[in-house]
Amino acid sequence: MIIAVDGPAASGKGTLAAGLARHYGLPHLDTGLLYRAVGLAAAEAAGTPAFEPRAIAAARSLDAAHLADLPRLQGAEAGNLASKVAVIGEVRRALLAFQQDFAHQPGGAVLDGRDIGTRIAPDADVKLFIEADSKARMERRARQFEALGQAVDRYALYHQIEERDARDRANPNGAFYPAPDAHLLDTTQLDIDAALRAAVAIVDGVLAKKAKQNSF
Ligand code: C5P
Repeated sequence: MIIAVDGPAASGKGTLAAGLARHYGLPHLDTGLLYRAVGLAAAEAAGTPAFEPRAIAAARSLDAAHLADLPRLQGAEAGNLASKVAVIGEVRRALLAFQQDFAHQPGGAVLDGRDIGTRIAPDADVKLFIEADSKARMERRARQFEALGQAVDRYALYHQIEERDARDRANPNGAFYPAPDAHLLDTTQLDIDAALRAAVAIVDGVLAKKAKQNSF
């Protein structure tokens, strides 16, 4: 079974995807980490002066070592750099096969990102599109950073999130919109447990419907 989980920054999609993966015993890929790693590598690469060729080279040579420093990858700087490299078509193409192979491994997988249901795995068995209003998303992100001991300017963070969303939604290479067969889940008023229960109910509902169709 392939479960695609898409949604904007700090919507809770990563936590939900990890929870679904645990619940159904499936491997999980946070595809945002790939773009974050490429963004950091491009910012740090020496030699080529232009950002775009550095990002393309970083995407083509990405390996597990680039994904090791999780706290740095999860930081605000990496998030902003990620959304800048994510608009480059060649970067997206370089990361495509890895994500598609992960999705289509035997037994299936859970992937979260922006274009999982639309481009990486349009054939996913279940597609979720997670939403939450910008203020709630900012507050969640602020608490995550504070838990890591980082100082947070909530006003700046709110604008960063809005700016990143706008860039992601306008990304001509991105396909960031709910797939026509996606199930929308608004987590604004839900805590993690309630959101996971709602997501599991959606997945179970889809599976039950498919089982019924297959029995005819
Ligand atoms: O999900 P996360 O916030 O880690 O993603 C970081 C950035 O990477 C996003 O803002 C988006 O620009 C990009 N991204 C993408 N497609 C994905 C996953 C992430 O364009 N499948």
